[in-house]
Amino acid sequence: MAAETLLRGRVLRFVSEPKAPDDHGSYLFDEDGGVLIKDGKVKACGAFASLRVTAPDATLIDHRPHLILPGFIDTHLHFVQMQVIASWGAQLLDWLNNYTFPAETEFADPAHGARIADAFFDEMLRHGTTTPVAYCSSHPQSAEAYFTAAAARNMRVIGGKVMMDRNAPPALCDTAQRGHDETEALVARWHGKGRAEVAITPRFAITSTPEQLEAAGALARAHPTCPVQTHLSENHDEISSTLGLYPKAKDYLDIYHSYGLLGPRSLMGHSIHLSPREMGVMAETGAVAVFCPTSNLFLGSGLYNEAGLAEAGVRRAIATDIGGGTNYSMLRTLDEGYKVLALRGQKLTALKAFYWITLGNARALGLEDKIGTLAPGSEADITVLNPAATPAMALRHARVETLAEELFLLQVLGDDRAVVETYAAGVARKPG
Ligand code: GUN
Ligand code: ZN
Repeated sequence: MAAETLLRGRVLRFVSEPKAPDDHGSYLFDEDGGVLIKDGKVKACGAFASLRVTAPDATLIDHRPHLILPGFIDTHLHFVQMQVIASWGAQLLDWLNNYTFPAETEFADPAHGARIADAFFDEMLRHGTTTPVAYCSSHPQSAEAYFTAAAARNMRVIGGKVMMDRNAPPALCDTAQRGHDETEALVARWHGKGRAEVAITPRFAITSTPEQLEAAGALARAHPTCPVQTHLSENHDEISSTLGLYPKAKDYLDIYHSYGLLGPRSLMGHSIHLSPREMGVMAETGAVAVFCPTSNLFLGSGLYNEAGLAEAGVRRAIATDIGGGTNYSMLRTLDEGYKVLALRGQKLTALKAFYWITLGNARALGLEDKIGTLAPGSEADITVLNPAATPAMALRHARVETLAEELFLLQVLGDDRAVVETYAAGVARKPG
């Protein structure tokens, strides 16, 4: 019989989206709880005492008094932009041209890709993120490095080779045909292999010709289980350049819609400046708006409208957008997300925040049967948090009275120092 592991701690997992700051029906919480793990999956989750009775021989790892949650999910980031974070740029298009494209050019070298991919997954695990959804560069070897490094850590990941065939340095451009064929080869090699999924990844309409978006649409039709990821309505200059390149489109979203790129597995990075018509089409097609707060603030892109999108029935996710984003931590992302929404007169409650980076993002990816819940049979991706990890946090923690207050403290003050351990498929993987 395979060995079992029993984690002990204060176990929190969500069952639905919290509708109010004190929506206690949205989560399950065991103050003295446990997660029983076997073969990389959750076998049972609940009160520690009853789990111990069923598994007297399981290896015990005692995380008390820390919180045990499903591993964090980051639904949009660029692994090839680790060396771009903190690069000066007036706004999106200068930043892309001056820093991002040159850095991505380096990924022609497979050794560079392998080195950065290792650093990337170490950083994910250090910050409690167990599932990243990443853009690689346009070089298929960068995607190869990404999936190889993820498989070495047995992590559930999504990634894609960026398709881009214009308005970028020649060394970064593929062609409509090459982008199609390279993506198809990656799908054959990695999609559904182990815990990996390949995303069809046209970077955005500015860097794809109509022929390339057509090819991306053909890939989406041919591989309906593959996610699609791209950027949408991030910045006003970007929107006007885009509409100049696609003059027949009704609006930005209509470009992607007309090439068959919208569906329930489509992840639309940023989705800030959307018209009511665009929100309606997002809702109808099930496409997901991905909120990237640290990036939107850093690049001055604008204030994402969570309440408006929710009201329109649009599905929503949250992400770091490294390297436009400025921190790998989903906790820091929640903190900045709170502030962005506050500037819009909206509130990101602590329960909603922790729902979002676990079950909410899992649902946005259509992966809630696999990750984000700690439900029996799901994959044992787990993050353990210490809400008193730093002296400042400990001082605040001394006055915390409720679970929601404790989560809000983590949301506002937490970062990688609060991450005690990160488990991928039941194995402790936080780098030292
Ligand atoms: N739009 C197209 N490419 C990118 C990118 O790499 N980062 C951001 N923030 N926006 C983009
Ligand atoms: Zn991005």
